[in-house]
Amino acid sequence: MEQKRYGHFDDAHREYVITDPQTPWPWINYLGNEDFFSLISNTAGGYSFYKDAKFRRITRYRYNNVPMDNGGRYFYLVDNGCVWNPGWKPCKTPLDFYECRHGMGYTRITGCKNQIEASVLFFVPLRKWAEVQKLTLTNHSQEVKHLKLFSFEEWCLWNAATDMENFQRNFSTGEVEIEGSTIYHKTEYRERRNHYAFYHVNCPIDGFDTDRETFVGLYNGFDEPEAVLEGRPRNSHAHGWSPIASHYLEVSLQPGESRDFVFLLGYIENEQEKKFTAPQVINKEKAHQLINSLDTTEKVDRAFRELQEYWDGLLSIYHVRTGNDKLNRMVNIWNQYQCMVTFNFSRSASFFESGIGRGMGFRDSNQDLVGFVHQIPSRARQRIIDIASTQFPDGGCYHQYQPLTKRGNNDIGGGFNDDPCWLIFGTVAYLKETGDFTILDEMVPFDNQEGTEVTLFEHLKVSLDHVIRNLGPHRLPLIGRADWNDCLNLNCFSWDPNESFQTTENKSEGSKAESLMIAGLFVVTAKEYVALCKFLAKRMRNEELGMRNGDYLASAESAGGGNHHSSFLISHSSLLEEASRMQQAIDDMIDAVKRDGWDGEWYLRAYDYFGQKIGSHENDEGRIFIESQGWCTMAEIGADEGMTAKSLDSVKKYLECEHGIVLQNPAFTTYHVEMGEISSYPEGYKENAGIFCHNNPWVIIGECIAGRGNDAWSHYAKILPSYVEEKCQMLHKVEPYVNCQMVAGKDAARPGEGKNSWLTGTAAWMWLTVSEYILGIKPDYDGLLIDPCLPATAGDYTVTRRFRDAVYDITIHPNGSQKGVRQIIVDGTPASGTLIPYAPGRHQVEVRL
Ligand code: BGC
Ligand code: NOJ
Repeated sequence: MEQKRYGHFDDAHREYVITDPQTPWPWINYLGNEDFFSLISNTAGGYSFYKDAKFRRITRYRYNNVPMDNGGRYFYLVDNGCVWNPGWKPCKTPLDFYECRHGMGYTRITGCKNQIEASVLFFVPLRKWAEVQKLTLTNHSQEVKHLKLFSFEEWCLWNAATDMENFQRNFSTGEVEIEGSTIYHKTEYRERRNHYAFYHVNCPIDGFDTDRETFVGLYNGFDEPEAVLEGRPRNSHAHGWSPIASHYLEVSLQPGESRDFVFLLGYIENEQEKKFTAPQVINKEKAHQLINSLDTTEKVDRAFRELQEYWDGLLSIYHVRTGNDKLNRMVNIWNQYQCMVTFNFSRSASFFESGIGRGMGFRDSNQDLVGFVHQIPSRARQRIIDIASTQFPDGGCYHQYQPLTKRGNNDIGGGFNDDPCWLIFGTVAYLKETGDFTILDEMVPFDNQEGTEVTLFEHLKVSLDHVIRNLGPHRLPLIGRADWNDCLNLNCFSWDPNESFQTTENKSEGSKAESLMIAGLFVVTAKEYVALCKFLAKRMRNEELGMRNGDYLASAESAGGGNHHSSFLISHSSLLEEASRMQQAIDDMIDAVKRDGWDGEWYLRAYDYFGQKIGSHENDEGRIFIESQGWCTMAEIGADEGMTAKSLDSVKKYLECEHGIVLQNPAFTTYHVEMGEISSYPEGYKENAGIFCHNNPWVIIGECIAGRGNDAWSHYAKILPSYVEEKCQMLHKVEPYVNCQMVAGKDAARPGEGKNSWLTGTAAWMWLTVSEYILGIKPDYDGLLIDPCLPATAGDYTVTRRFRDAVYDITIHPNGSQKGVRQIIVDGTPASGTLIPYAPGRHQVEVRL
């Protein structure tokens, strides 16, 4: 395929620079950090919301529209009859220059036409519930320019789902207020809503519009609003129908003159008693304050610098210097950035997720936080508590919850039997990063029911017990609705196209459907749990000894490696008993996998409802699956018997292709009612033998554990965005700076085509893979474990790693070796084994393989 390029990386500014607005798919960015969020495409399309893309949508968006990416924050410029937009869309007037720079939490779009430059900086300032749009107009011509400027936002009537369907009501509820240069959107504020939004500009205006039909014209599109084409606002006041916000400004610019305009899209909540200042008049006090805090170029520039410094800080926690720019930029910039975004949104809002379908996933969020915990541990801590609060007393879990209410989502319910294990996965990552064991003492309810609180540690215990209590005929874990692969629906038997494979009746009663993926996941996470119990026991013993010796703090510190102590309400011996109870369950699981989960050259994937093998050489299609190869090799099940090496070789032989590792092979060519959604997809797409980037890292980590650095690296580079960017922007289609969930596999009509970008567990897994397993710097309770696994060609590299109250500058000398640490020298003194013991302060570390 022809090699066309649409942009390039600018590492010095941590930006991706798009130079052609007609990208093969909208290439988007995310603005916002905690509460107020926006999605923005390279042509300024997208929308904003507060916390929850479904329940608190601020601006409207039309998904999958014609043309694609319709609706956004648009600026229309009228220059002597020529109408254009800085981001090219929606008018699509050819520009003399176009550039979109997506950076860390901001996007800058610049367009030039007839010597007028319009540059818009979009960002959400830290701690603010607002999107700033700083528009800079510059006259590069020799003459005075008289321009007309129209801004445009379309309000969503808050609930993004009903906004798209309940028109008999919606067309009568819309309400606005106009005050000076601020347009307020207050639909439903008169009744049960205590929030409103506003759109403001920091200078007097020459007109406005708030009614869409009046501004655009009933038979026109965003590319030809009547008011703009005529160069005349209507000063319309919306009553029902579709309220919008558009400012009109007349701007004269001298030759060489430049002017800033600060537009602000804000969101406000008021207390019930303070909603109104007069009948029907909303209380604007908080809006005035917010506007006041961002109403000059200086204030906005300061807020922007603060945002940049915030990212400087976040990205300095783990920083690598290798001779490979493509690796450096993914590790130091984009992979970490994507981890923050997936942590914030789970799978809820992207250009592939409408924001109305899904809340936060239980398993998804636990994985996401692992890629994020080193950045802002306190937010990961809160997330763990929120997630655990949606667990059921028997260890099962709500599969999703809504971020606004933090309640489990009843529409989807529970029954996904891998879910509980992920709570261990997430919590252990938090403990190792922070050394904060107090989290284990937190009292956390079940299903958010008051009075049901138990410690978080107890939640971990019931999580694993849920697996142990739900074993099938081969003593392997019963799959329930599905495991990680939401589309392997072994208990569903659906013939009704109107039911969702995930939520339809779960016929697991009497089912023999077992999962080898959960078996591997259980072994990995239960081993972590055993290690945690033993660690806590050791720590407790040390604390007791320390207290007896009157040296409590010193010994506790050296054991815990952190400053936080949990007042753990469990005894030393019961912790050891718990460890050995779980070790027994692990041993049993390993035996079961070796006995009934090994197919000769790879691990089986599952047993179906009837007890028939899935993912076996005996099958015609779906003979080998990636998930069980990944998890069972990570768990090192049968490593001594050669199983892991054989499994990894089989992955290379049957699943690997040019663009990555496919999910299974051969793809299903017909619908199998006993397997469900997986066989509903055409060959090579999604769960039917697509390259699910999310699970490629499982194999890569398996390769690293097995010490096969060349293989690990070649799998990794195939799905590393910076490598794909160089190879095929056009074929790949989606954003070249982040991973996407799925790349079409070898059986697809167009192998290599990417879909479902941004919100994917791939981000966290790529991070774990490269930071802990390839570059080999792994947080542990007592310090950092150093155990890289590299391609034989790797040169020396240095990682600066901030860890709790310490900073380590770690230089690794691979000397052509793929794995095996020979020597570690910390501040001039040899360390024993592969652990750098934790000690506050800055340390120089030399590692030789
Ligand atoms: C998709 C899965 C997804 C599931 C639940 C399916 O249609 O293929 O990737 O996990 O829906 O949303
Ligand atoms: C996407 C879902 O969000 C995730 O939970 C699931 O594990 C994968 N798809 C695989 O089906």
